[in-house]
Amino acid sequence: MADAVVQPAKQRYALITGANKGIGFEICRKLASQGMVVILAARDERRGIEARERLKEFDNVVLHQLDVADPASVAAVFKFIKSKFGRLDILVNNAGNRGVDVDGDVSLLEEYIAADCAFLVAGGQAEPFHPKAEGKIVETLKGAEECIETNYYGAKRVIKALIPLLQLSDSPRIVNVSSTLGCIVLQPNEWAKGVLSSKEGLSEERVDEVVQEFLNDLKENKVKEKQWPPHLAAYKVSKAALNAYTWVAAQRHPRFLINAVCPGFARTDITYNHGPLSEAEAAEAPVKMALLPDGGPSGSFFHRSEALSL
Ligand SMILES: NC(=O)c1ccc[n+]([C@@H]2O[C@H](COP(=O)([O-])OP(=O)(O)OC[C@H]3O[C@@H](n4cnc5c(N)ncnc54)[C@H](OP(=O)(O)O)[C@@H]3O)[C@@H](O)[C@H]2O)c1
Repeated sequence: MADAVVQPAKQRYALITGANKGIGFEICRKLASQGMVVILAARDERRGIEARERLKEFDNVVLHQLDVADPASVAAVFKFIKSKFGRLDILVNNAGNRGVDVDGDVSLLEEYIAADCAFLVAGGQAEPFHPKAEGKIVETLKGAEECIETNYYGAKRVIKALIPLLQLSDSPRIVNVSSTLGCIVLQPNEWAKGVLSSKEGLSEERVDEVVQEFLNDLKENKVKEKQWPPHLAAYKVSKAALNAYTWVAAQRHPRFLINAVCPGFARTDITYNHGPLSEAEAAEAPVKMALLPDGGPSGSFFHRSEALSL
């Protein structure tokens, strides 16, 4: 009997945004080590070249410039993937912006995040919060706008631009790297909470409406009056909107698996290098979501531990 012809496994193509450092960089490393062609996208060319150099043991990593806030840059990455690979199998929207700075002891940020997590675990019951670190969280209008532009509009822009290439895949996957801070329980504004949590009638336009209302209130100095989150407001609104949009996009593309995942609290620049997890540990859950087998969940938001146990 003639030897059976062994078909080479089908090559898969993955794009990771904000991949020059942190969790995105480690997602690239993990996907590249599985033999996938990985497009490491970085908004800054020089930082991208340095990151590509740190993965030089892989000949299946390709660098491309991508600023998710710049429509021309997004259009250019579409053109590049279309002409070079013809399709895309996995998109990981990882690029992120925290929207605040800390004036003083940066461990203050970790204390605020820990207080929010305790609030979540307690089912929305607030404990008195008196941070030990000295300083204050500074949220400017410019910082908040950049945060929303990157975390919500940027991810949406990249998804929309690359859908035609993902449609050519046998098993399209989109992973939106989100955050536990985007949980609806952390949204005190009852109207926003209602819109973002009700699947009935939820649409892209409704999610945009919440984000625009928040930005308008921020401009008019009405964050407190309108009961938006008292701290890290732009980050929380951007990630809550991203989670809601994940559901909307999954309904629109039933053949895709589109999910949002919190990678866990990790030591990266966004957290001022505080947190229990390494960058590589935090990359595990997004990678698992990127490699979900057919028939897996879609339109959901997972915390790290839930994603890893799928
Ligand atoms: N670390 C955590 O504990 C944690 C927890 C929950 C969720 N997350 C999420 O995980 C993702 C990755 O964050 P990280 O912790 O790895 O932080 P990080 O090390 O600060 O990395 C953020 C990445 O996003 C890039 N970026 C920012 N704005 C961009 C834009 N407009 N276009 C393209 N890239 C842009 C940054 O590029 P530059 O180097 O050019 O600035 C950098 O590569 C984010 O979405 C974050 O919200 C992190």
